[in-house]
Amino acid sequence: MNRRTFFVLLGVPGAGKGTQAKLLEDRLGLPQISTGDIFRYNLKNKTELGLLAQSYMDKGELVPDEVTIRMVEDRLQQADALQGAILDGFPRNLIQAEALDQMTAPYGGVSLVPLIHISDEDAMLRITGRRVCRSCGAVYHIEFNPPKKEGVCGLDGGELYQRDDDKPETVRNRLYVYYKQTSPLVGYYFAKGLLVELDGNRSIESVQSELMELLAEKEVAQ
Ligand code: AP5
Ligand code: MG
Repeated sequence: MNRRTFFVLLGVPGAGKGTQAKLLEDRLGLPQISTGDIFRYNLKNKTELGLLAQSYMDKGELVPDEVTIRMVEDRLQQADALQGAILDGFPRNLIQAEALDQMTAPYGGVSLVPLIHISDEDAMLRITGRRVCRSCGAVYHIEFNPPKKEGVCGLDGGELYQRDDDKPETVRNRLYVYYKQTSPLVGYYFAKGLLVELDGNRSIESVQSELMELLAEKEVAQ
């Protein structure tokens, strides 16, 4: 069997999944696959998928499973995912988790599921202060991880913007949707022996070091 490595990052909106996935991508040589980023890319390019996704994202609701699952299936077949991937924001309910099990079964299944814990109050603070680079998607925070120059990405000089769904009322619904639909995945992956839990209420670097230690401990990364 051609074994591949698939990490699923779990955590409430704002837990730091995207931030950690981008750092892991460089260290492990696996691509970050963020369903939220793919929807935003499609929205920017005004594709049919982007326009469909927007109506759900604006409300903080999940985009329908059929569309999302097909999109991830296609993405996992691209050349850069031949060794595996870091999944960020997928799966988000049990139907998606079962679909991912089927997609990855020929390659040994999901390897490990790190769950990043932060409080809901911290999630609100992190999300409402988040800024994202319009061109490369790098993630900043006006207070916790500020760019060197205000409003400008330190990596490629792109413009930093605030996501439309980062308004407090939408964030509250995203948290509600997380607890209702995504949190059952904690039990799902625990029962499979794949869950590892981390305290996300520390510096970005310290969460990253612990993540690397956990991956090495479980022998899913060197
Ligand atoms: P998505 O883009 O996945 O958003 P999310 O899950 O709500 O998660 P976030 O991106 O808000 O948080 P994050 O954990 O990545 O945190 P980040 O690293 O940015 O999804 C958006 C929408 O798309 C959904 O609502 C849905 O509509 C749709 N969608 C996506 N996937 C779907 C799916 N599978 N099915 C159906 N629909 C789907 O960090 C947050 C902030 O905190 C940043 O400012 C960062 O700089 C800061 N920060 C990070 N770490 C730290 C730290 N350790 N200390 C201090 N600050 C920190
Ligand atoms: Mg994210």
